[in-house]
Amino acid sequence: MGDPGSIVRKAIWASKRFGIEQVFSSLNLIGLALRNPSAGASYLAGERKKLQMVVLHNSITVSVKLLLGEVDPRLEDEILELETFGDDLWNELRSRAPRWTPLSRAECNYLYMICRMVKPKHIVETGVQHGLSSAYFLKALERNGSGMLHSVDLPSKEYTSRIGTIADKIPPDVKCGWLVPRELRKNWNLELGDSRYILPRLLAKINGIDLFLHDSEHTEEMMRFEYSLAWKHLRKGGVLMSDDIDLSEASREFFPADKAVGANGYRKGIAKLSAIVKP
Ligand SMILES: C[S@@+](CC[C@H](N)C(=O)[O-])C[C@H]1O[C@@H](n2cnc3c(N)ncnc32)[C@H](O)[C@@H]1O
Repeated sequence: MGDPGSIVRKAIWASKRFGIEQVFSSLNLIGLALRNPSAGASYLAGERKKLQMVVLHNSITVSVKLLLGEVDPRLEDEILELETFGDDLWNELRSRAPRWTPLSRAECNYLYMICRMVKPKHIVETGVQHGLSSAYFLKALERNGSGMLHSVDLPSKEYTSRIGTIADKIPPDVKCGWLVPRELRKNWNLELGDSRYILPRLLAKINGIDLFLHDSEHTEEMMRFEYSLAWKHLRKGGVLMSDDIDLSEASREFFPADKAVGANGYRKGIAKLSAIVKP
């Protein structure tokens, strides 16, 4: 082992040369490879996916721990098993709607783990489109053995986004949420209409919600509207989640950087998809 002074000097040199984040992520990779020898060996043999998956799952577990506390190791294993479910969904999505880039794999796993930990009676989400987030929520509810997902989306094939009108949000021959496997639909209530009208009625009907995800129209007005309404109806210990929180001022208020936890692992603070627990 070298002397501590020289190790520190080398670390400073490496962080200047490659960037501090790069150095930490390399050290993290080495640590994870040592703790997962078979993934580490595959990586050295040129097969990178296995270790990349371990890295991904590890960072999501860190996010969930920051948000909700200790994670049962069995749940960490469950996330690895979820890979086949995810592969099937993504293959289907890419074959039918290749230009869409909805939530990332890591973000979907984050939603799944939060749902498994909170064990919600009622989840409400706005923005379904193909049904990726819905599928992950419903998969988690199936494992929980109870709970309902209420989803809201527009009946039309087009919607307004920050970049203008999206005319073909789903393939022409399918309906909103087409990606959700049939066997998971029994715990699903899909309401078609503008969230401005549907959400107040829906939330008034359900007596308190445990999880809320905003992923509909990412305008300042809509984000503020949905966040404040959902917050009012969230029970204590419930979780407010939103995609694309970087797009709105309202997010800074509802997802303060010292309390919200992004799906990026390792630190509190905001990410594209972030979550906050109602105290
Ligand atoms: C980014 S996509 C949702 C992606 C989805 N969460 C997923 O994981 O695949 C946005 C969706 O929000 C819906 N949307 C846009 N404006 C809306 C509104 N005013 N009310 C309800 N849904 C709306 C759109 O129709 C579109 O399907």
